Amino acid sequence: MNPSKLALAALAGTFSFAIVACADLPPASTKADVTYTGDVKAIFDASCVKCHSGDRPKARLHMDSLEGVLKGTKEGPILKSGNSADSLIVKAVAHAVPDKDSWMPPLNNKAGIKPLTPEQIGLIRAWIDQGAK
Ligand code: HEC
Repeated sequence: MNPSKLALAALAGTFSFAIVACADLPPASTKADVTYTGDVKAIFDASCVKCHSGDRPKARLHMDSLEGVLKGTKEGPILKSGNSADSLIVKAVAHAVPDKDSWMPPLNNKAGIKPLTPEQIGLIRAWIDQGAK
């Protein structure tokens, strides 16, 4: 293979990897009128609040109020309202970030909290896509 064909092949490889990474996210739920209080709060309470609340929440992220979730971590917002596929919180729970330290809840955490189900992730996606209200 000549060098330019090789570069093209490498580029194609990177590109298809990016597509696979996106396709890996469970689909957004088709439920209408998804809200924090009615739908996602229960998920956050069961799977996130243990580490993300109180005086010293991990990553300084408060997951026990809508305000806290919208504020995000010490590094900034964890969601883009209207764009769940590009929201850190979705990538973290769907294990769609390369750094395993960002997979949430952390694998094999001492609290025994299990990964979210595709249905739960789909609800979080729908909530963000519908404006994170
Ligand atoms: C057992 C404790 C624990 C639980 C449960 C937990 N987290 Fe975390 N979370 C952490 C720790 C520790 C960090 C900091 C990780 C780091 O800085 O590498 C973190 C960081 C994060 C971050 C920032 C990641 C980044 O790359 O900046 C997000 C977003 C997050 N958590 C969301 C969640 C969500 C959503 C849930 C529930 C589905 C959850 N976490 C459950 C411990 C936890």
